[in-house]
Amino acid sequence: MLTDEFGRDVTGVRVSLTDRCNFDCVYCHNEGLGDTRGPMDPQDDEMETDDVVRFLEVAAEFDVEAVKFTGGEPMLRQDLAEIIERTPDSMEVSLTTNGTFLPDRAEALVDAGLERVNVSQDALDREQFAAVTQSGAYDRVLEGVDAALSAGLDPVKLNMVVFEHTAGYVPEMVDHVAENDGLQLQLIEYMPELTGKPEWNVEIERVHDWLAERAVEVEHREMHDRKRYWIASDGATLEGPPAESPNVGMVEIVDPVENPTFCANCHRVRVTHEGYLKGCLNRNDDLKSMGEMSKPEIREAFREVVANRVPYYGEYMIRDGDGEWELNDEYLDLPA
Ligand code: 5AD
Ligand code: SF4
Repeated sequence: MLTDEFGRDVTGVRVSLTDRCNFDCVYCHNEGLGDTRGPMDPQDDEMETDDVVRFLEVAAEFDVEAVKFTGGEPMLRQDLAEIIERTPDSMEVSLTTNGTFLPDRAEALVDAGLERVNVSQDALDREQFAAVTQSGAYDRVLEGVDAALSAGLDPVKLNMVVFEHTAGYVPEMVDHVAENDGLQLQLIEYMPELTGKPEWNVEIERVHDWLAERAVEVEHREMHDRKRYWIASDGATLEGPPAESPNVGMVEIVDPVENPTFCANCHRVRVTHEGYLKGCLNRNDDLKSMGEMSKPEIREAFREVVANRVPYYGEYMIRDGDGEWELNDEYLDLPA
């Protein structure tokens, strides 16, 4: 197990398989790389199947327990099932997708070893969905969610980025997962730095408050210090009835910007579609190319990236006079 200077064990990796995407979500942070989206055909800047597998084998040696494949849209990779199949057995495999290709391929991916899926669904309203994703694939995405459930991926997590365009749809998305078995909702705080549209920001604290009032149970998770709210479909709350054996749905908030201990509980490193190791989504100063590397070289690169990992948001970072983030030196002196 590798641990960084802030005492954070690295137990997960998030691997971007392509930066191509058939959507063009207005909030897309493009894995922190800026607008790099190019043509839809396979690109030769993408890691080859063997490169991905070699990296995952090294990660497994370091006791990394989980891999999340992401994009762009990872299902644009025709070798996705093969990659999943060849992922070391010790690692849990999950996928973040926009869902459009799940109707045809969910079952094959599950057969290959896929265990969990997050589907981006930012609204239940067709027009709003189109406005956010700049695509007309709403029905395909709903079909994709059903296909994932039928293939045995239960629960299916719906990802919703909470920002100006979607905040008004939070209540109906919450009801939707409370009423439908197998669905969970992950509300993601909008990260404005990576999109250049700070005016779309919505205070995530308001969503916490609203959910706390509606929940029958609130739970804390260590990973990223997330809060989970259990919501009853019949409107029961912590305070009590009504409680006619309601369906209960889980809603989780992922709030990197405002939660001061989010980064302190980050246990994941990233790999870009071009095969660069990256200690943090928001940092591009620690990129390490795994280009033509042999396994011993990848081991060394992995150690180096982990050793250089620095939290981005929260108590380790403070705003300077100009509002820019800078390292809070006091925290660097703390023992790991
Ligand atoms: N802020 C927060 N989350 C984002 N995502 C993409 N861009 C942003 C952003 N600016 C997340 C969403 C989406 C996944 C592909 O990446 O969760 O579902
Ligand atoms: Fe970006 Fe994901 Fe939307 Fe594609 S589906 S544009 S990768 S947020």
